[in-house]
Amino acid sequence: MDYAEYNRRAWDEQVKQGNEWTVPVSDETIAAARDGEWQVLLTPQKPVPESWFPNLAGLNILGLASGGGQQAPIFAAAGAHVTVIDNSPLQLEQDQIVARREDLTITSVLGDMRDLSQFRAESFDLVFNPCSMSFISNARPVFEASYRVLRTGGRMLSGFTNPARFIFDEDRLEQNEFLVRHKLPYNDTTHLNSEELEKLRSENEPLMCSHSLEDLIAGQLKSGLTITDMFEDVDDKDPLAKFLPLYFATLAEKHSSRSVRSGQ
Ligand SMILES: C[S@@+](CC[C@H](N)C(=O)[O-])C[C@H]1O[C@@H](n2cnc3c(N)ncnc32)[C@H](O)[C@@H]1O
Repeated sequence: MDYAEYNRRAWDEQVKQGNEWTVPVSDETIAAARDGEWQVLLTPQKPVPESWFPNLAGLNILGLASGGGQQAPIFAAAGAHVTVIDNSPLQLEQDQIVARREDLTITSVLGDMRDLSQFRAESFDLVFNPCSMSFISNARPVFEASYRVLRTGGRMLSGFTNPARFIFDEDRLEQNEFLVRHKLPYNDTTHLNSEELEKLRSENEPLMCSHSLEDLIAGQLKSGLTITDMFEDVDDKDPLAKFLPLYFATLAEKHSSRSVRSGQ
């Protein structure tokens, strides 16, 4: 099953329920960004290092699966030209709510992060992809599509969930019990029983899956990107946080438009 159609509705519901990744930034945050004081997240807690960003003024940024009124308005306030593609109309609307409130311009595009064919090749300086791979079953097309739309010298900043997060029984985790249950790669639709799946659906929880580290790391390299830095992060609210960094982020660069796969 492809998650995109189901997850569109689920993320719209998350917006209505006030999920923390759907809550727009404040006017103070935007005022500070206009003055050059800003930071953004790719993962739950640790701000992305300043060194990962070039000067944002005039930069073309693509926010990939990055709606929610969080990063995009900050980038726009800091002087970038920002386009966001996201699968959820209400997540995109959160960006537009901030844009209207703060007189910012953000181009919002409803679509799938795996299909960037509507954007010209080499049209972005930076692709910014906060943790969202877990909502699609195949990561590789995202890297290939991002590579194509990045200009030479451009950067892809990505946040990921550590695949190890998915080996545990979720209900037991909520009771602080660590029961190893699932073989990786994990997929809600194949690893949960019908009762558990129905519970997720009734709570409008987005469907999730894991990817191998090979898919997430080598997948970038095979697409032609060069990974130049990374960091790990935790989510203090997660019972696993004291044992394992559950998130990581990578900085990758497009050094040339040479096709690595064809060896040209
Ligand atoms: C955790 S939120 C990330 C955005 C948030 N502003 C943040 O800082 O993390 C995950 C986002 O991925 C989007 N998403 C899920 N599947 C997608 C897909 N196939 N294509 C594009 N966006 C997708 C969701 O709609 C949601 O906005």
